Amino acid sequence: MLTSVKIIVHLAALLPLVWLYYGAINDTLGADPVEYVIHFTGTGALNILLLTLALSPAAKFFKKPVLIKLRRLVGLWAFTYAIFHLLNFIFFELQFDWRLLVSEIVKRPYITVGMMAFLILSLLAFTSINRIKRKMGKNWQQLHNWVYIAAIAVVIHFYWSIKSDIYQPALYALILLWLLSLRRSRIKVWLFK
Ligand code: HEM
Repeated sequence: MLTSVKIIVHLAALLPLVWLYYGAINDTLGADPVEYVIHFTGTGALNILLLTLALSPAAKFFKKPVLIKLRRLVGLWAFTYAIFHLLNFIFFELQFDWRLLVSEIVKRPYITVGMMAFLILSLLAFTSINRIKRKMGKNWQQLHNWVYIAAIAVVIHFYWSIKSDIYQPALYALILLWLLSLRRSRIKVWLFK
């Protein structure tokens, strides 16, 4: 059962990426394909990140503990989308100009915050390897609470990247606030103990 669900999750995450790059190669993504791929992978990463945060409350609500077992897999897909998002930016917008990347990180606050979120997600993905998780003991949970900071940083990144219509980031902010409020006691213990 769990294996079939995992296969479905892999396909649901992988197929949109295949469709996206197939469209990019065949020039079917509209007038501004670069903006399209950056938008698609950015919102994809954020959607999957929020889905990761929704799995525990959903497992409790629907009494389906199997959902908790999907957290790592879904979280790693959020990270994969974030990698594609960053690579699209470096490849299509900066043409692999690493000095320009550093100056963008320093000069543009929305890129600074995006990079901060990306670094946190990288650390979480790296420490999700079983051997490392075991070695970290109690510190593992402490570190993985940083997923909340990463999610907040991504919503700020989205909001700051928008020039006009703030409807979408505002909606994401509301969903994130709701997901965080479901964990308020756990977050209070983490922050104030
Ligand atoms: C690694 C550092 C990052 C860089 C350099 C970066 C770069 C960008 C750029 C250039 C945009 C488009 C802004 C525009 O339309 O002018 C963008 C938007 C966005 N990014 Fe990132 N990003 C980073 C990290 C992340 C991460 C980690 C996530 C999610 C997990 C994310 C999610 C988003 C979202 C949701 C948008 C708005 C989509 C849109 O409307 O275009 N970004 N980012």
